[in-house]
Amino acid sequence: MGSKITIIGAGSVGATIAYTLSGENIASEIVMIDINKEKVQGEVMDIEQGTCFRDPISIVCGDYEDAKDSDIVIITSGIARKPGQTRIELTQTNVNILKSITPEIVKAAPNAIYIIVSNPVDIMTYVFTKISGLPERQIIGSGTILDTARLKFALSDHFGVAQKNIHAYVFGEHGDSSFIPWSGAYISGVSVDEFYELMKARGKDIEAVDKEAMLTYVQKSGGKIIANKGATFYAVSRSVCQICARVAASSDSIATVSSMMHGEYGIEDVCLSTLTILGPNGIQGKLPMRMKKEEIEKLKASADTLKSVIAQIEW
Ligand code: 2OP
Repeated sequence: MGSKITIIGAGSVGATIAYTLSGENIASEIVMIDINKEKVQGEVMDIEQGTCFRDPISIVCGDYEDAKDSDIVIITSGIARKPGQTRIELTQTNVNILKSITPEIVKAAPNAIYIIVSNPVDIMTYVFTKISGLPERQIIGSGTILDTARLKFALSDHFGVAQKNIHAYVFGEHGDSSFIPWSGAYISGVSVDEFYELMKARGKDIEAVDKEAMLTYVQKSGGKIIANKGATFYAVSRSVCQICARVAASSDSIATVSSMMHGEYGIEDVCLSTLTILGPNGIQGKLPMRMKKEEIEKLKASADTLKSVIAQIEW
């Protein structure tokens, strides 16, 4: 029996998450909620009419009460970035929307695992944690799981190695203060730097990784895609479905998602992404990856950036 998953927000991200889930075996019931009823009904029709090729799945357009007993609730509500905008510029508008939906959804589904996707996702995860009254373990921000996916793709493309063999991560804000802790970046069991040397010694025509360019690629991909096609929704939806799969699994796993910090690396009272243990009971803590001093400073700088935004929120 699959999970009951409620998606709040039927914009391009919410609808694509629903569509992506309809092709997986994670959910047996999807409830889509949006203020624009016509839009939701259209999305539900368009998705459900492609489900004859799979095991039965229920996809409905609903209201908050229909989210009752949801295993997972995904919050995508809010305005999306326009070309040239930063995610941080969306803060107050999306916080106001989050404040309006939180009491309704928490009343209907107090025991669900919540996946916060709306941007700026680290701020939204923090605000939801503070206003929902739910145990922190139930609250997962999509965070840098998408950035890590972008990094894996880029390193795989650079070295000509399968993405499954790339073990590298993006930490901090899902945004411009994120960074890549290269001291924890490996290809199978070999560091990225060592892998380059080994391949070079074998005569492979390969360049060393331009680490600054790689970080810029990760940080600017969202904006570039938005400039080209107006919005991003495929990779972020795949990333959110991966979190759903982790939560629906029978055991814990590790991903870079956003959650409340409690003194790890000397950081607290802010949500950001580091290696996080998650599974059927939600967030189970952090995996304290060893980092160089300058990498810890970058994480602290990212935390400070987010805290400066939180300080300006009108609660
Ligand atoms: C992105 O970077 C949606 O913020 C997300 O594509």
